[in-house]
Amino acid sequence: MDTDLTLRELAYDDLAACLELATDRGWPAEDRKWGLLLDQGTGYGLVDRSGALLGTTVVTRYAGEHAALSMVLVATDHGGRGLGRRLVEHALENAGCPVVSLHATAQGRPLYEKLGFRSVARLTTHTGRFSSGELSGTTRAALRADLPAVVSADAEVFGADRGELWKDYFRFSDQVRLDGAGGFAATWRNVDGLVVGPVVADAVEGAKTLIGDLAVGADGDIRVDTYRDELGSWLESRGLVERSSVDLMVHGAVDVPGDRARLHAPMMQALG
Ligand SMILES: CC(C)(COP(=O)(O)OP(=O)(O)OC[C@H]1O[C@@H](n2cnc3c(N)ncnc32)[C@H](O)[C@@H]1OP(=O)(O)O)[C@@H](O)C(=O)NCCC(=O)NCCS
Repeated sequence: MDTDLTLRELAYDDLAACLELATDRGWPAEDRKWGLLLDQGTGYGLVDRSGALLGTTVVTRYAGEHAALSMVLVATDHGGRGLGRRLVEHALENAGCPVVSLHATAQGRPLYEKLGFRSVARLTTHTGRFSSGELSGTTRAALRADLPAVVSADAEVFGADRGELWKDYFRFSDQVRLDGAGGFAATWRNVDGLVVGPVVADAVEGAKTLIGDLAVGADGDIRVDTYRDELGSWLESRGLVERSSVDLMVHGAVDVPGDRARLHAPMMQALG
């Protein structure tokens, strides 16, 4: 272990250094996302003697049941020295939840496998201009009063109560829409356009309707990360292009909890 490095919790003041680290690894400087994650969860950072941030990870805990791990990043010049392992081991020790999940890039996957994570699903990212139609007339914008129903349906689908997160997410998101059949979906604004997520619906058709309605009036690119091939093909028919994919991995259970057949897109990869 590199004893010259200190592992400490990240604060809001570390946001600029986190963005710099992300940029160093070719990730976009997603300031709103990092802000939400540092607010909702606990960030851990590895710093050298001069105070430079060399590695990060964030743990978001849901009611002591399930934790999502994200933003596992090590500065390019310090890769392959065990920093990533140290960060993820520390996050697992401090997760405080029996089940930990994450979305793994191809680069991260070998490390997570060594630490006992297993892949349970593949998540594919599509982006581009969505060729919108008219509103379906079967969905409506959610109101603050809809929050308890959304939180309860989300808990069934995700398998853990994310009520605290949803309180913030209602403000953070651009739009939340409901379909009247227990389905809902939202968008949030990232540096390069609107991201759709989560998308919850009984069947893929319901997911398409919600996404189509959220995309009406979108003024730029949209991004949808989906676990469903059928939804991916439909997004391509609407003008989006497949960009990349990651693995949903779980630690402490054979599969992720919840009724995942109804979760077509996560809220964001970093939130599990
Ligand atoms: C993924 C990442 C965090 C790994 O950090 P790192 O500090 O280089 O990793 P470590 O040196 O701690 O290596 C961890 C283990 O994984 C193994 N490993 C790493 N890459 C591997 C590969 N491509 N194939 C097989 N094993 C690999 C190492 O051998 C090491 O095993 P050991 O601890 O038993 O010796 C770093 O490459 C990174 O920041 N990548 C870009 C961002 C990213 O994709 N993050 C993952 C997000 S899910």
